[in-house]
Amino acid sequence: MEPSHYLPWHFDGNEFTVSILVTKADAGGIFEYVPNIRTPETENYDHIEHILSGGRDGVHQLDLQPGDLQLFAGRFSMHRVTPIEGTTTRYIGLPTYVHDPYRMNRPYHSESIYGRATKLHHQRADILVDGLVD
Ligand SMILES: [Fe+2]
Repeated sequence: MEPSHYLPWHFDGNEFTVSILVTKADAGGIFEYVPNIRTPETENYDHIEHILSGGRDGVHQLDLQPGDLQLFAGRFSMHRVTPIEGTTTRYIGLPTYVHDPYRMNRPYHSESIYGRATKLHHQRADILVDGLVD
């Protein structure tokens, strides 16, 4: 993540992610999350709307340090990374894991987070993962 970059509030399409922070930003770049804001049985839209409107109920911050390793269940925990401040690029390794090896992020999810979607993203876009909205 370059200076001024950020990741908006979102859920992951995968079951869990392993993150390893390599280089921390000078400031900003804070990982924020709302643990288990939704479950496989309920989307909890009222709480999600509260967060998207700037509310902070249930928001946790994790100021990761270089070398920190985190296991994170992003499918159920809404999360974001605040804007990168200063001149240092933030580097983080994010291997992700799914139970179904055929599964990929929805095209718009990949485009908004990574800047592009591949032909495979579009071919697999209609595969239902579970009842949750991606
Ligand atoms: Fe994520």
